[in-house]
Amino acid sequence: MSKIAIVVGSLRAESFNHRVAEALTRLPAGQGHDFTFADIGSLPLYDQDDDADQADSVKALKALIADSDGVIFLTPEYNRSMPGVLKNAIDHASRPYGQSAWSGKPAGVLGVSVGAIGTALAQQHLRNVLAYLHMPTLGQPEVFLQWKDGLVTEEGTIGESSAAFLDGWLQAFLALVETHGG
Ligand code: FNR
Repeated sequence: MSKIAIVVGSLRAESFNHRVAEALTRLPAGQGHDFTFADIGSLPLYDQDDDADQADSVKALKALIADSDGVIFLTPEYNRSMPGVLKNAIDHASRPYGQSAWSGKPAGVLGVSVGAIGTALAQQHLRNVLAYLHMPTLGQPEVFLQWKDGLVTEEGTIGESSAAFLDGWLQAFLALVETHGG
């Protein structure tokens, strides 16, 4: 059983990325594993002056990541990059200097957008950041999802056309986590 933290880079109530994330945890490959969603909406804007006295919400995020065997990021694409709320969360948990919660944690990256390139550019920016943070990140398969009716069913599961593909992705991610001790 692996403990997986899920970080979704959208705060909106009807977020497609959040819906895909919830459905991902219901795939066969995820059964028996423990998924916890990070709360990044209550984080303050990152301010380096607060590094010595981090807010409780920052401490909670860092504790969740520290206690996890791996991290799944779902990023929307905002103006061809990741949303500021996601970068804000990443920056918070990377500090104070030398006490990053991310270091060494295996990562998986997915994203869904209304655009045809399915967050490809946002994911590429995110991968750049994760490499710097020393997070071994699943390379293949890549997951670029364009939101369409039926991607997530009324019951909150992944729809038929993507279920096998995403189950394979989750299997590959959990195998990566296992190779890193999770
Ligand atoms: C977007 N959207 C968007 N889509 C895309 O494919 N490429 C992009 O560069 C952008 N840029 C962008 C900027 C901003 C500020 C917003 C609000 C939106 C559309 C985006 O894919 C859409 O809003 C998704 O629904 C966002 O994901 P969630 O919130 O549904 O998870």
